[in-house]
Amino acid sequence: MVDFKALAKEYGTPLYVYDFDYMSEQYTELKEAFKGRKSIIAYAVKANSNLSVVRHFAKMGSGADCVSIGEVRRAFLAGIPAYKIIFSGVGKSDDEIREAIEKDILYINVESEAELQRVESIAEELGRPSRISIRVNPNIDPQTHPYISTGLHDNKFGVDLSTAKRMYIQAKNSEHLDPVGIHFHIGSQLTQLQPIREAAEIVADLIRSLQAIDIELKFFDVGGGLGVKYGNEETIKPYDYAQAILSTLTALDLTILCEPGRFLTANAGYFVTKVLYEKQNGDKKFVVVDGAMNDLLRPSLYNAYHKIEAITDNNGKTREVDIVGPVCESGDFFAKNYPLPELNRNDLLVIHSAGAYGFGMGSNYNTRGRSAEVAVQNGKARLIRKRECFEDLICLEQEFLVD
Ligand code: LLP
Repeated sequence: MVDFKALAKEYGTPLYVYDFDYMSEQYTELKEAFKGRKSIIAYAVKANSNLSVVRHFAKMGSGADCVSIGEVRRAFLAGIPAYKIIFSGVGKSDDEIREAIEKDILYINVESEAELQRVESIAEELGRPSRISIRVNPNIDPQTHPYISTGLHDNKFGVDLSTAKRMYIQAKNSEHLDPVGIHFHIGSQLTQLQPIREAAEIVADLIRSLQAIDIELKFFDVGGGLGVKYGNEETIKPYDYAQAILSTLTALDLTILCEPGRFLTANAGYFVTKVLYEKQNGDKKFVVVDGAMNDLLRPSLYNAYHKIEAITDNNGKTREVDIVGPVCESGDFFAKNYPLPELNRNDLLVIHSAGAYGFGMGSNYNTRGRSAEVAVQNGKARLIRKRECFEDLICLEQEFLVD
C-alpha cells in the first residue's frame, strides 16, 4: 500500500506516484503470455516517458516503441539496446529518419509510400541500408473511443493492403531498403478480442502472399492497445490476447513484437492532488483542487473515467461533486457528479490509473509548472522528476526580452 499522505508531505502536490513493482508484474505477465515463441515486448514510450520508467523496463529486457526521435533518444539514454528499438509515426522528418538509420535501430515503421521514398533516399545518401517494417491499416473497427481508434481507413495511420504489398515489392527491389517486419495497431484501450484476431488474420494472410513472391519477413508487430480497468470494464487477459494472435500464425516462423503502453503503466500510476476549496453554484457543488487539466488531460479530452479516492478523516456519507482544477477552462475537471464525502482544506484526492498518458500529455498551460514524479519500489520512494519551477518555464524566452 502506498502512503500517499507521507509522499504528499515529502514531495508536495500535485504529484505523480508510480508503483514500479506493479509495472514489473504487468511486464512479466505479458512476456509470459507469448512464451513458446520468440517475442520482444517493446514498451510504448509515449505512455509514460520518464527516463526512470523506461529504464525500469530496459532492465527487465524490454525494447521500445518510439514515435519521435526524442523518444528514440530517451530509449537509448535509458539503456534500451538499438536492436530492440523501433520508430513509428505518420510524419517523420528527414532529420529523424537520418538519425534513426545512423543509430541502427531494429527498424523504421513506414506509414506511407511517400515516406518509403524518403527512407530509401536517405539510406542511399548514408550508404547504409535501412531495415523497415510497413504499418498496415487493416480497416478494422476496434470498438474503442474514436480519438484512440487507429485501424480504420478513416484514420491517418498505416496503408491499405494493396499499397502495402506494392511497398514491400519496392523495398525488396531496393538495395537501400531491407524489409524485415510488418506492423498493425488498430487502437488503444481495446477490450474486445475479436477485432484484434481479425486484424492479425488479415495481416498474417498478407505475410503468406508476400512469401509466395519470395519476400520473407521476420517480425510480426502487433502494436499495443491492450486495455486496462479504469472502472468496471471487462478486459482481455494477456494469455487470451497472445493466443488469439498466435493462432493466426500457423506455419509462420516470426518473432512477435508487441508495443504495450497503457497495459504496463496505467494502473501503476496515481495522481495525488490537494483540496483547496469547496464551493457551491446554485445546486452544483464543486471541489477545487490544486491539480488541473494541464497535469492530467484525459478527463477533459476524452471524458475519461478515473477512479478518485479521498484521503480524509470525514468518512461520512457522500454527496455528488464536480472535481475541478484552477485552470481557466470549464473543461478543467477530473470528474463530474462524483460521490465524495465532505472534505476539508488540504485533504488529498488520489486519482487512479494515471500512469499512462498522464504526465506525458501534460502542459504548462496557464504558466503552471508540471508536477513532480515519484517512483515507489520495494516499499521505498524516490524522486524521478523534479517539480518544474517558474524559472524552468520562462528560461527559453527570457533572453529574448526586449525593452
Ligand atoms: N503502438 C502504436 C503504434 C501506438 O500508436 C500506440 C498508442 C501504442 C503502441 C501504445 O498503445 P497502448 O498499449 O498504450 O494502448 N492518449 C490516449 C492514448 C493514445 C494512444 C496512442 N497510440 C489516451 O490517453 O487514452
